[in-house]
Amino acid sequence: MIYVAPSLLAADFANLETSIKRVADAGANYLHLDVMDGSFVPNISFGAPVITSIRPHSKLIFDVHLMINDPIRYVKDFVKAGADIITFHLESCADPAKVIESIRAREVKVGISISPATPVELLIPYLDRIDMALIMTVVPGFGGQAFMPEMLDKVRTVRRYAESKGLKLDIEVDGGLNAENVGLVTAAGANVIVAGSAIFGAKHPKKVIAAMRQSAAENPYFNH
Ligand code: DX5
Ligand code: ZN
Repeated sequence: MIYVAPSLLAADFANLETSIKRVADAGANYLHLDVMDGSFVPNISFGAPVITSIRPHSKLIFDVHLMINDPIRYVKDFVKAGADIITFHLESCADPAKVIESIRAREVKVGISISPATPVELLIPYLDRIDMALIMTVVPGFGGQAFMPEMLDKVRTVRRYAESKGLKLDIEVDGGLNAENVGLVTAAGANVIVAGSAIFGAKHPKKVIAAMRQSAAENPYFNH
C-alpha cells in the first residue's frame, strides 16, 4: 500500500482548513507537517499550536516531521497537539534511543529521518525500534527543491535491510517528488510519499494523486 502525504508547507496558510479539506478529498492518506526551528534548518515554519488548531478539522493521519534541535524537549507538546507519527532527525540529537523511547511511551508512531549528507549506515542500528525511516531527497528547510536521485540507494539499502530482518517498516521519502518521479522511489522500496508543491500547488490535486498512485503501482519494489 502506498501512502500519499501532502506537505502543509506548500498550502495557503491563510486558508488552512479549506486547503487541508481539498487534499483530503483528493485522496491523501497523511497530512505531512514540517516543523522548522530556524536553527536545525535555516527556516521557521510552524509549531504545535497550529497543529492543535487544525486537528479537529481533519481525520487524516498527522505525520509530524520535526526539523528542530534537541527534539525530546517538544515530544509531549506534539503528542498533545494530535500527532499520529512523530519523525525526528538523527542529526538533531545526542541520544536518538532516548527520543525513540519518549515518543513510544506516549503511544505514537516513531520515525527517524536522515538528511542527504548523512550516511544510511548510521540509521541501520535503529531500524528495529522504529515504525518509519524518512529518507530526505532534498536538503531539509524549504519546499520546492529538486529531487536528488542519489538518495535512491539509501532507500534500497533500508528496504533490503528491513526485508532481510523481517521488519515491518514504512519508508518515507520527502522532497521534490511528483507524479513523474514517484516511480523511482517506489521501485527502490519507499511506500510513504511526501509531496508539497506537486499536490498543494496543483489545480487538480485529485488528478496528481491518482497519477502518483498509478505510477507507484506500475513501479513496484522488487529485491534487486
Ligand atoms: C523540506 C520538507 C518537505 C517539503 C517538501 O524540508 O521536509 O516536506 O515541504 O516540499 P516539496 O514536495 O515541494 O519538495
Ligand atoms: Zn517534510
